[in-house]
Amino acid sequence: MRKATITGLGKYLPEKEITNKDLEEFVDTSDEWITKRTGIKTRRFAADDVTASDLGVKAAEEALEKAGIKADDLDLIITATITPDMMFPATACLIQDRIGASNAGAFDLEAGCSGFVYGITVASSFIESGLYDNVMVIGTEVLSKILNWEDRGTCVLFGDGAGAAVLQPTEKGGILASDLGSDGSGGDTLYQPAGGSLKPASHETVDNNEHYLYMEGTPVFKFAVKTMGSASLKVLKKAGLDKSDVDMLVPHQANTRIISSAAKKLKLSEDKVYVNLDKYGNTSAASVPIALAEAEEKGLINNGDTVVLVAFGAGLTWASAVMKWNDLK
Ligand code: ACO
Repeated sequence: MRKATITGLGKYLPEKEITNKDLEEFVDTSDEWITKRTGIKTRRFAADDVTASDLGVKAAEEALEKAGIKADDLDLIITATITPDMMFPATACLIQDRIGASNAGAFDLEAGCSGFVYGITVASSFIESGLYDNVMVIGTEVLSKILNWEDRGTCVLFGDGAGAAVLQPTEKGGILASDLGSDGSGGDTLYQPAGGSLKPASHETVDNNEHYLYMEGTPVFKFAVKTMGSASLKVLKKAGLDKSDVDMLVPHQANTRIISSAAKKLKLSEDKVYVNLDKYGNTSAASVPIALAEAEEKGLINNGDTVVLVAFGAGLTWASAVMKWNDLK
């Protein structure tokens, strides 16, 4: 059976860098607290007039160039985001129009920070079935626009950015297995209270800050520690592989303590776990593709390597994928 493989990666981070020290100016926090509890040192924030589709277009164009295909070769664009330009139309359609992907279907996928790994699972199914040959998955977020600056437990954690991948068929290697999970009973620990049909936006919801991201850190932390390791082990088992086969783990970048616990479960040394959380903070659905693109750019992932992607996020959701790296170049 044919498999799907990633043939091009792209990423885009806005230029404006915000350090923990910058946050100290207007949030009751400290560089020491943020560094010790999360591992984050800086994050990037988009300018006021920049949207998720703006960042997504830049990442998508780089991924197309690296894959050596044109926008109108794309059959499908999947965009994972919790900060779409608008509730509708889909941000994927805005990106489709702007890059000129005239032959592609396009839709958004909402699985919080797990969105990109969900997306490549959907993309690889389309490719394995033979329905499509060229699928793009984008993770893009402008989280700075939904942060509540009065909530120091969340506003220091997040950043903006985008990552994209082109997936194409391969007869050898590629995405060997993936696994998706959800537990909606934990949905109220990480959500945006207002703006949907449950609580349409009103003066009252805005006055109550209900249009911002809301998170209960402790239950989400416990959930993340539990799922990141188990989801990685499960997908390895599905692929008939062992944790000793892993050359690189690319986890969702939320907290170094969460990443370390996953690495410990897989018995991985530090050089086999890619971390850029210190530079970009948590960029939600963009975090895994940005990390993957950066790791590949630095020559840390090479053909033949076994790479595990794992993420958790709002929903609650989790997702993992294991691939034998094979970019066909
Ligand atoms: N600066 C200084 N002090 C702070 C800050 C801050 N920014 N935030 C909280 N504190 C204080 C608290 O008020 C508390 O003080 P107290 O003991 O006097 O009451 C103390 O620090 C400890 O607070 P905790 O919430 O217990 O801190 P914890 O060690 O649990 O870390 C954190 C909090 C970093 C948020 C952690 O719970 C976490 O990482 N959770 C997971 C978050 C995450 O990964 N989210 C992913 C979202 S995925 C998606 O789909 C968007």
